[in-house]
Parts: sequence; structure tokens; C-alpha cells
Amino acid sequence: MFLSLARRRSSALCFRQSNPILNRSLWTSNKAPVASRFQASNRKTLPEQPQRRNYSDNGRERSTVGVFTPTSAAIFIAVGVGLFYYFKYEKERLLEEREKERASRQYGRPNVGGPFSLTTHEGKPFTEKDLLGKWSLVYFGFANCPDICPAELDKMTTILNASQKEHGDIFLPVFITVDPARDLPHRIARYLEDFHPSFVGLYGDYDATKAVCKKYRVYFSTPPNADPNGDYLVDHSIFVYLMDPNGQFVEAFGQATSAEEVTEKVREAIKEWEQETGRKV
Ligand code: NI
Repeated sequence: MFLSLARRRSSALCFRQSNPILNRSLWTSNKAPVASRFQASNRKTLPEQPQRRNYSDNGRERSTVGVFTPTSAAIFIAVGVGLFYYFKYEKERLLEEREKERASRQYGRPNVGGPFSLTTHEGKPFTEKDLLGKWSLVYFGFANCPDICPAELDKMTTILNASQKEHGDIFLPVFITVDPARDLPHRIARYLEDFHPSFVGLYGDYDATKAVCKKYRVYFSTPPNADPNGDYLVDHSIFVYLMDPNGQFVEAFGQATSAEEVTEKVREAIKEWEQETGRKV
């Protein structure tokens, strides 16, 4: 591109030097191709006249190397250097912008999740690292909850069935009890039988429960010295947390969000994550 541009320019320059009167308007109107055409037809119609190109400017013509005059070479280099720096600048600006965008997205996300150490309903240790490699849906509740928790776990089951059908077995539903006094692992195991078979129930002592709730910003009202045989209700926040395969928080869905809406959000999140990371689970 630069080369042909330089050639056009230089042919116009040559012409300008050889026909100062005629070419002034051509040069200023910047119609180099017309000049070249004119030059070519000139050569055709006057084949006997090349010797006459000995003009009064004392052989300036001879200092021209091919189509390159010093001026055109200077323009060529200047344009080339200019373009090089322009593209370099543009590339840096683009990278910077992309980085800013990524950072603001991270910044916009609430800091939800993080390290925890609990026990599964099968009695195995489970930490935040066990969430990695799958899309997890994390819910906090308790087995004695009369209606809200069963409704939310039913909703999660619907979401999981729909999402698994579409994306395959890439989901990990997690139920974390906020009633450690009564929800011992075997009890959670029995409770989860009513819901999706891939559910993992998690249990921890009071401190571990409090710690994981803090990480997920979950409120719960169970007192530390609750009676394991007591008949009490636990007040707790109701959210389904979607975490990506890197264990990063994506979104929290409240009670008002339907199973269909969550399924759609999950679909969007998977698509976005795959585009961003270039990976598939
Ligand atoms: Ni509940």
C-alpha cells in the first residue's frame, strides 16, 4: 500500500519537475493517477521525443533514482514511521482499554465466597477447592425449614435438570446448613434425597458455619448454644449463588427469580465465561 502510494506520488513529482506549468494544478488537486495516464499517453503519441526531456533545470532529473526522488523517499519514510507509531499507539490504547474493562468488571463484582472447610453429608472433607472445575450453585438453609428452603431446593432441581440437559454434567449443587446443632451429616443426607441427586450437603460446627456464612454474606439467626432437640426456626438469607469453574462468584439469585430466569442467566454466564477464558468445562 505504502509503496504504490509512494510511486504515485513520485510519478507526480517527476511530472511536476518536467512540466512545471501544466502540472501545477494536477499536483495541488492531488490527482496523481490522471498525471500518470497523461504521461503514458504522451509517450505513446510522441515516441520520437524522449531525447527532448533535457530540461532547463540543469539535470536535476538525473539525481532521481528510479521513481524515488529524495523528497518522495522522505515522504515515504515519514509516512511509514508515522503509521508505525500510530498503530503502536492504537494497539497499546486498545490493550489498556480492555484491561480497564476487565478490572472494572472484577471491581463491580461483590467479593463473595472464599476459603472454607466443611464436611459433606457423606462425612468427607470439603473445601472451596472442591468447587473448582464445575459451575456450582450454592444455597444456605436448614432441613427443618417449613417451606422456603424446600421451595428453593425444588427450584434448584428444576434449574439443574434444564441446564444439565443443555450443557451436560458440569454443575455442582451445594446445600450448606445454617443449623449445625440439628443438621448433622446423616440428617442432611436424608433431607437431600427429595431433591436433585447431584446435591452435596455441607456441614460444619458453629464457628465453621459462621465463617462460611460471612464469606458468602449470609445472615442466619441460630444461636451458638442451640439445643439439638429444640424446636426452633432459623431466620436466614435466601440466595442461590452461581459460582464459575474458577470458584469466582458470578451472581446471586433471590426468591423472586424464577427457575427459567436463573436457567437463562446460567446460559449467559457460561457463554460469557467460555468467550472470556477460551475454555470449556
Ligand atoms: Ni429456609
